[in-house]
Amino acid sequence: MTNNAGKKNVYITRLIPAPGVEYLQEHCQCRFWEQDNEPVPQAVLLKEVADVSGLYCMLSERIDASVIDAAPHLEVISTMSVGFDHIDVDAASARGISITHTPGVLTETTADLAFALLMATSRRLIEANRAISKGHWKAWSPLFMAGRDIYGASLGLIGLGRIGKAMARRARGFGMRVYYYSRQRDEEVEAKQGISYLPFDELLQYSDFISLHVPATGETFQLISTREFNLMKPTAVLINTARGSVVNEEALFAALVSGQIRAAGLDVFAEEPISPDHPLLELPNLVALPHIGSASVETRSKMAYLAAEDMVEVLAGRPPRFPVLNA
Ligand code: DGY
Repeated sequence: MTNNAGKKNVYITRLIPAPGVEYLQEHCQCRFWEQDNEPVPQAVLLKEVADVSGLYCMLSERIDASVIDAAPHLEVISTMSVGFDHIDVDAASARGISITHTPGVLTETTADLAFALLMATSRRLIEANRAISKGHWKAWSPLFMAGRDIYGASLGLIGLGRIGKAMARRARGFGMRVYYYSRQRDEEVEAKQGISYLPFDELLQYSDFISLHVPATGETFQLISTREFNLMKPTAVLINTARGSVVNEEALFAALVSGQIRAAGLDVFAEEPISPDHPLLELPNLVALPHIGSASVETRSKMAYLAAEDMVEVLAGRPPRFPVLNA
């Protein structure tokens, strides 16, 4: 639907970085959910989409068939994320609605965070920081807060998309041996980056660090569960910056408590935000972050702009640069 100035109505489900706001306001009639720290309640979203042609959303909104049904004029859903598991793609496709996302711009930033989690878990950074504030640092001591080496250790990547490859580059720079498992072998990348393919179970058995870089799909749901933890080394560390649904959290809790694996670094959880009372958060060998993989000012600004640009492209009848679905 359009306003008097011929601009199409769009609803934006959060306050977004300025480049996205400015671009959208130039081309569209915008309404925002103005609370930065709280997602728009589903009931409000259902009302807000009634007259919009574009819906600009975050990964924290569930864009299911009920939202799509409540939006009879909807032409495009643009998500300010690379992941789009929060959108019912089939329902959008059935209505001829395009979907766009923001791949590419967040690759290096997310790989930085995955590697930061690898370093924090291996060298026990958060535990060590807490030890100081709790007064547990009494004297320099040979094994006080001793972690494990990164140099010379092996990293197993599950998934070799853009972020997996960026993680491999970082790991090689730190002198790690890098293995990967992916549905498709990529011998060119193997040669170029000096990494090796391993079958899934072998990767779990031989890796000192295992980092997940797969999307949330039916196929990857709880890909890492009790059987997989049982295959890992007792010194293994699991890093997850992909999606919480890829790991069975109960099995992870059991593996961390029993010493089946040494530690885990998580940026994503099955339910987000994770409850502050969640038992996982009490474990000293778990480093938890609030889904901040792509959270740098530069990257979030680029994501905001990309999603805005593609929304405007679709509303103007042009193909988006980054389609999930080009209806
Ligand atoms: C995404 O974009 O899907 C990440 O999880 C957050 O940036």
